[in-house]
Amino acid sequence: MIILGIETSCDETAAAVLEIKQGKFKVLSNIVSSQINLHKKYGGVVPELAARMHTENIIEVVNQALSQAKITPKNLNKIAVTAGPGLITALLVGVQTAKTLAYAWNKPLVPINHMKAHLYASWLENKKITFPAVALLVSGGHTEIIYLKSNTTMKKIGQTVDDAAGEAFDKVAALLKLGYPGGPKISLLAQKGNNKAFKFPRPMINENNFNFSFAGLKTAVLYTVQKIKNLNMQTKADLAASFQQASIDVLVSKTIKAAKQHQVKTIILSGGVAANKLLRQTLETQAKQNGFNFFKPPHDLCTDNAAMIAAAAYFEKDKNQKVTANPNISI
Ligand code: KG4
Ligand code: ZN
Repeated sequence: MIILGIETSCDETAAAVLEIKQGKFKVLSNIVSSQINLHKKYGGVVPELAARMHTENIIEVVNQALSQAKITPKNLNKIAVTAGPGLITALLVGVQTAKTLAYAWNKPLVPINHMKAHLYASWLENKKITFPAVALLVSGGHTEIIYLKSNTTMKKIGQTVDDAAGEAFDKVAALLKLGYPGGPKISLLAQKGNNKAFKFPRPMINENNFNFSFAGLKTAVLYTVQKIKNLNMQTKADLAASFQQASIDVLVSKTIKAAKQHQVKTIILSGGVAANKLLRQTLETQAKQNGFNFFKPPHDLCTDNAAMIAAAAYFEKDKNQKVTANPNISI
């Protein structure tokens, strides 16, 4: 089976071609056209500009995905597109393009939940995932713990009550004037810092649920920064390291707790923040120490891409699905 994936939920215009043979995934092409340079001067994504840029680039990105995969439209079995969650202006470009291509090429069209697709990025490693499992799903807009009974049966068992983890990384990076997107900048700078230099709270770490809160942690960093007279590079590195450690302590502790309480076999890490080296290492180590199998996406498939959208489509039924952009769908 060959699937074309299309993703435009935020600030990456992406298309990928995925081949699935006997249940094994092979990414034939994975094109991601990033809009970072456009949005960084505003310190975040401007929805209107994102949509305009998607419109400019989407056809070229799809063409590149097909030609790099050495595929013509007639070889495709289906087209998959992100239907939500995301920015409505941005989602509409991908959905409308995919609908047009599916009509013109006479292919089934599968609407995909972007957060589910982040999960399926871990399947692209072709390792056999054992169930039941819990997944920590950490991105710029979402922080959730998902219980998976099988490849396709899943339910949300916890989520952030305010900011998402990635959002907190981005806001703390903005506070330290490190630029956008903040996650990679914080993790890089944190390598030069002392993670015990500042004592930041670990919100909700001891509560007997699987919810998170990052707004208070972000505010704690803000109040600390406001008191510092000389914010030099070393102090910024110490702040970055201390903030990163506090976030990771909460994410890892709650995930391990969820895995134990639900007596699962496996822990899965996914979403853009899964690109964070320390989070990858810490969760993997603690998962294995506690006897769980551990799966994570390849580093380059953690942040938004269309290979994961195509992978999700492999698990979806493609008959009679009405395809509309919906910014608020959830797992
Ligand atoms: O999943 P994603 O690409 O987009 C959404 O669906 O939101 O996630 C983007 C988020 C951003 O907040 C970004 O700062 C964060 O993932 N991120 C990271 C790292 N790389 C990306 N956060 C921490 N450490 C990283 N290395
Ligand atoms: Zn995403």
